[in-house]
Amino acid sequence: MSRGEDLIPLFDSWRMRIENLMREHPLQIISWEATRRCNLHCLHCGTPSEEVDLAEELTTEEIIGAFDQIAREFDMSKFRHINITGGEPFVRSDLLPVLRSMSRWPFYRNIDIQTNGVFISNNPDVLGELRDVGVTGLGISIDGFESTHDALRGRPGTWTKAVNASRLAVKAGYVVTVSFVAHSGNIHELSEFYRFVTDEIQPRVFRVVFVDDQGRAQGNAEFLLTPAQVRDVIEFLKSEYERTCPTYSNPSATMVELGCSGWLGTELEGRVRPFIFHCIAGLNNLGILYDGKLASCNNISREFIQGDLRHDNIKDIWQNHYRLFREAHWRNTGPCRGCEDWPYCHGGPMHIRTHMGSPQCLIPVVEQMISPERTTI
Ligand SMILES: C[S@@+](CC[C@H](N)C(=O)[O-])C[C@H]1O[C@@H](n2cnc3c(N)ncnc32)[C@H](O)[C@@H]1O
Ligand code: SF4
Ligand code: SF4
Repeated sequence: MSRGEDLIPLFDSWRMRIENLMREHPLQIISWEATRRCNLHCLHCGTPSEEVDLAEELTTEEIIGAFDQIAREFDMSKFRHINITGGEPFVRSDLLPVLRSMSRWPFYRNIDIQTNGVFISNNPDVLGELRDVGVTGLGISIDGFESTHDALRGRPGTWTKAVNASRLAVKAGYVVTVSFVAHSGNIHELSEFYRFVTDEIQPRVFRVVFVDDQGRAQGNAEFLLTPAQVRDVIEFLKSEYERTCPTYSNPSATMVELGCSGWLGTELEGRVRPFIFHCIAGLNNLGILYDGKLASCNNISREFIQGDLRHDNIKDIWQNHYRLFREAHWRNTGPCRGCEDWPYCHGGPMHIRTHMGSPQCLIPVVEQMISPERTTI
C-alpha cells in the first residue's frame, strides 16, 4: 500500500533503523513487571494474578541487584527509559525504596509507571516522592465513563479515583497518558469520553489499545472487537489525529495514539499516532517479569521467556538469546509470505503472535477504510 512517492524515503529510512535495531539490539528500554498482585480484579485483565505463582515475586534486594547489574555491565550510552507495570505496581510496598536505590544511576531517571490510579488518589503525596526518584511519566487506565469503567474494574469508585489521580498527576507536572482499552462494551462512548478527557483532564497522551485476546479476556465475546469495530476505532483516531496534530508541539496539548496493535500500512502509519509502529520486543526492549524471568516485553507469552535473572547473567542472555525476536524469517509464513509490507512490519506485534499463533493482521481492515469496495471483512 502506498501513500505517495514523496513519503517513500521516510519509510525507507525507518526500515533501515529497524534493521539496525535487529542487528545491533542496543538496550534502550526496560519494561519491569513489578508484581502480578493487584488491588483490583478487572474482568478483561490480560495479566491476571491467578495465572502465576505469586510467591515467586522478586524480593527488594533481587530487583535492586538486577538493575545494578545492568547499570554496571551494559553499554548504557543509548539507554532511554524504564516502564513499570504489573499487576498493580503500587501494591509493592517497597516500590519507592527500589526506585530510590535505582535513582543512584543517572540513566534510571526517566521512568514511567502504568497504574489504575487508586493508590495515587488515596495517597496524593506520593507524587512528590516519585518525582524525586526519577519518575517522569504516569500512565493511568480509564476505560470509559464511570459506570462502564467501574463495571470492568470490578469495584465502584475506581473511576473517580482514576480521574482524580490523572488530574493530580497533570497538575504535578508529570507526562500523563490516559490509557483506554477499547473493547466491545465501551467503544460506543469512545468519542464522547475522549472529549471529556481532553476537556477535563488534559493529559499529554490519550492512548487507545485494542483489547487482547488473553488472560481474563481470552475467548470472551463480551470484550473482543469485530473487524468492523476495529475499523471504526482506527477511523476515529485518524480523524482526531489529523485534526489535532498541528497543536502537538504545545506541551499542554493532548496527542492521540493507537498503541501496539500492529502495522497499519504506509497509508495510515503516522496518521493515527505520532510515530511509525514496529514491535520492539527483544530488539531494544528488555522485559523483566515479576519473578525475574527475562522476557522481551511483558505482554508476550511466557513460553517465549529467554532467561532467568535468578540464575543467569542478564547481559549474557541479552547478547546471546532473543534470536526469535531479532531474526524475523520464521515469521514470514501464512499471510506475511509475499506481503509487500513485510520489510516494514516483519510479521506484526510479538505479543499477538506469541499468544495467538498468527499476526492478526490489520491490513485488510485498513484496506477497507481506504477502498471500501475492494475488500470485505
Ligand atoms: C495489565 S495493566 C497493569 C497496570 C495497572 N494495573 C493498570 O491497570 O493500568 C497494563 C495495561 O494493560 C491494559 N490491559 C489489561 N488487560 C488488557 C487486555 N486484555 N488487552 C489489552 N490491554 C489490557 C490495562 O487496562 C492497562 O492499561
Ligand atoms: S488491568 Fe491492571 S488494575 Fe486491572 S486487574 Fe489487571 S493489573 Fe489489576
Ligand atoms: S501480512 Fe504480516 S507482514 Fe504483512 S502487514 Fe500483515 S502482519 Fe505485517
